[in-house]
Amino acid sequence: MNPRFFRLDSNDSSLLLLSLAHAIPTVVYYGAKLRSAVDADTLQTLTSNAIPNAKLDGRTQLPLLPENSRGFFGEPGLQGHRNGGNFTHQFLLESVEENTDSLCFVASDNSAGLQLNITISLHALSNVFSWKHRLTNTAKTEFTVDYLGCPTLPMSLAMNQLTTLHGRWGKEFQQQTVELAAGRFQIDNRRGRTSHEHFPGLILSEGTTGELAGTAIAAHLGWSGNYRLLVDNISEHQRYLQCGELLLPGEVILKQNESYETPVLFTTQSDAGLSTISQQLHQFARNKLLPKWTRTKRPVHSNSWEALYFDHDMDKLIALVDAAHATGAERFILDDGWFNARRSDDAGLGDWQVDETVFPDGLHPLVDHVRSKGMQFGLWFEPEMVNPDSALFRSHPEWVLQCPPYPLLPARKQEVLDLSQPELFEYLFYSISILVEQYQIDYIKWDMNRDTLNAGSGQQASQHKQILAVYRLMDALNKKHPKLEIESCASGGARVDFGILEHTGRVWASDNIDPIERIDIQHGFSLFFPPEIMGAHIGSATAHLTGRQTTLDTRAIVALQGQTGFEFDSRKLNDEERATVKHYTDIYKQNREWLGEARLWRLPSIQECLHVCGMVSADQTIALWTVVSNGSHLQATPGKLNLHGLNPDAIYEVTCLNANIDYLAHFGKALPQWMDDNSMSLSGELLMRIGFMLPYMPPQTALLLRCRELSA
Ligand code: DGJ
Repeated sequence: MNPRFFRLDSNDSSLLLLSLAHAIPTVVYYGAKLRSAVDADTLQTLTSNAIPNAKLDGRTQLPLLPENSRGFFGEPGLQGHRNGGNFTHQFLLESVEENTDSLCFVASDNSAGLQLNITISLHALSNVFSWKHRLTNTAKTEFTVDYLGCPTLPMSLAMNQLTTLHGRWGKEFQQQTVELAAGRFQIDNRRGRTSHEHFPGLILSEGTTGELAGTAIAAHLGWSGNYRLLVDNISEHQRYLQCGELLLPGEVILKQNESYETPVLFTTQSDAGLSTISQQLHQFARNKLLPKWTRTKRPVHSNSWEALYFDHDMDKLIALVDAAHATGAERFILDDGWFNARRSDDAGLGDWQVDETVFPDGLHPLVDHVRSKGMQFGLWFEPEMVNPDSALFRSHPEWVLQCPPYPLLPARKQEVLDLSQPELFEYLFYSISILVEQYQIDYIKWDMNRDTLNAGSGQQASQHKQILAVYRLMDALNKKHPKLEIESCASGGARVDFGILEHTGRVWASDNIDPIERIDIQHGFSLFFPPEIMGAHIGSATAHLTGRQTTLDTRAIVALQGQTGFEFDSRKLNDEERATVKHYTDIYKQNREWLGEARLWRLPSIQECLHVCGMVSADQTIALWTVVSNGSHLQATPGKLNLHGLNPDAIYEVTCLNANIDYLAHFGKALPQWMDDNSMSLSGELLMRIGFMLPYMPPQTALLLRCRELSA
């Protein structure tokens, strides 16, 4: 009956777990790294609750898989049954495998015929912990899994600020922070993709936590399908966090020896504020998740979508390639519209053959032209979808996810294909693969433009299988074409999560590239994801989604916060604009190598309308800062900017890199004094402690600053 104690230490965090009476272990500490040794008895003494009146007579725990049968009144970690029986469970710990960077627990409930494997692993460098459950049916009869949460984590009541991300098409990653009180905060996503509406991640913090200081824990479910995020508050156990996949009824029925595994929950904690939390997640993604090609020089994209939409024509495309190349594009992407019958979004999805009525010689003239310029070539696909008006649907209507006799519910006049059907899977794999080979495609923009409903396959729910099949299809293509790069796009940013990032390495965060709207989108995105994987394209002077007009400088500076590219029609640029685009593209190219490993700092607002963030190289020798205004500041001058994350002992040259400084100057009588020479040299300490004055920044202006260590 001795308590058993388990410990994992990363560079800056410690995790302590305790198992009493062979029960599933409970997290008793997850926080800043402990220097003290602890033992099981001390931990038990410190963490065993009072026994309140009017409650159960014994002490109860909040283990990794909370069980109703042991006195837990919140959301049970496992919900399932054996044809109505075994609806409640009680696991006993059987064995543990302990390593410096992982703990694997095996627990069984023999009377219910179930085995549970719990795996916790850590990445010491980034302080990110990964958590998952696997449930196996060990009995002869079928066991239906209704819900299996990832390991449940207790949270302190002091962490009462909950930050989540929400939105819609064209307005993704909008941050919401609420104060938690009694009751539960729950998000259920049933859209069959990560979704625009909610992001499967959250940050819990204290009231005093900010970007540069304070305690916070982030949790993110790496899953691109349906999910639940839950933060609940129950009398006996204060607060707990539980995330898991939302399963459709009957979707997971385990036969003997079959298993169901949860998606992975990723967590990280810090006492150093939200920017550090983000840096840890970025570092983890870079080191552990993302494909290797994301660590190479990321090319400047030119994408055909907003330039031409469905107006595909060889002469226009070639002119677009020439114009994009002249301003520094290195990869040309032919977006939606190139395949059979795809003259609008009404038809053609599923027929992945080049439309010979538009391209009589195939894509060869275009691809050859792109290559002759030394550029790479990318192509758009939407593999999971079919238009009813397509040859594919006409010959295989049964390949669609559906629940007959209920009618299909179209969205963008398209339906979702049932990727669990092997013949369809093969068709998609081969039709994409043939084109990748034929045109030596370097990159695929993999789109997914609708939510999924009634995900039925042969009268059985198949949403879980569908997501696994999407991952499998991407993997099969990656394996067959090791140099191929895949981007995840889903009507903008509806499929961005750590699950998809194991199979793709670039994401399209939003169709909204209005730079002012982009401030919040990119801010929310940066909470969880490293900036260099985010496609950030410069749009037209009048943003297509909002009608807002902005200067080229502002659009280009905001696009430098990610992997820059062009969405505008390069053919329409005048000489001055071409020079401006080239100026910023050159800055991107000069800095992209260190940007891919940079630390991102979001600085607290000095004026409500000013948004400052910076990327500082890992060796602190160079940094790029952007200041973007989305309104009028209250004071006559915006005030002083104190930088962060620099080496206090290094001397930096600070330069404003705006192509058009006169534009900023004309809003006042004079720029701040240091900008007279557009450069100054100062120690990192003074740049961070004393800071320096910003110019007057009216709405929609942006400033790009570089700090470069002089001796470096
Ligand atoms: C939605 C994507 O987000 C856009 O960038 C574009 O590729 C269109 N789909 C094409 O249909």
